[in-house]
Amino acid sequence: MFRVGFSSGPVRWPRSVTWLLQTPRKGSVSKRFIALSVHQVVESVLDGIPEDERLWVSRALNIWFHPLMFDTVNGGWINLLKVKRSGMLNRHFHPAPVCAYVIKGSWRYLEHDWIATEGSFVYAPPGETHALVVGNNVEEMITWFHVCGCRIYMDDQGKQVDYEDVHTKIRKTEDHARYHGLGPDFVKQMIR
Ligand SMILES: [Fe+2]
Repeated sequence: MFRVGFSSGPVRWPRSVTWLLQTPRKGSVSKRFIALSVHQVVESVLDGIPEDERLWVSRALNIWFHPLMFDTVNGGWINLLKVKRSGMLNRHFHPAPVCAYVIKGSWRYLEHDWIATEGSFVYAPPGETHALVVGNNVEEMITWFHVCGCRIYMDDQGKQVDYEDVHTKIRKTEDHARYHGLGPDFVKQMIR
């Protein structure tokens, strides 16, 4: 892991940014990928955090996601994750990169020694297995995530027990939209 300072450029950030970039096993961090994600942060998040609770899809007790984009061309999705409980979320493997930008609160990965705080930008390279942990002192955390590929959930023995990809996310969001009467366009508008 290394940290780099934020340098001013064409992208305007609402506050200072701490970069938490995990070094890939081979080669360097994909700067092009990060640049693309930075643009998506600006375009998809800075309109504000939705206050209407119907726009948050329940993932587990006190954990929700607010979908922003479903990428059915390359396989992946962008969403806000909101957690209002402390402790560890399910451990999982990423075969493709993940970027995250912390909007509120803080969290860490059990496998690393840094803490992502408000304004942190995190890059996790392909091939990473981790478990997200929210500390006892955090009332609520909200983080923008760009997940490429899928999440493969594992049990304590490292055996695959479940997975999530853009299609399971779409189905879950469709069910949620149907239940709350959000209309067919709620999901459609986010599919690319
Ligand atoms: Fe993850």
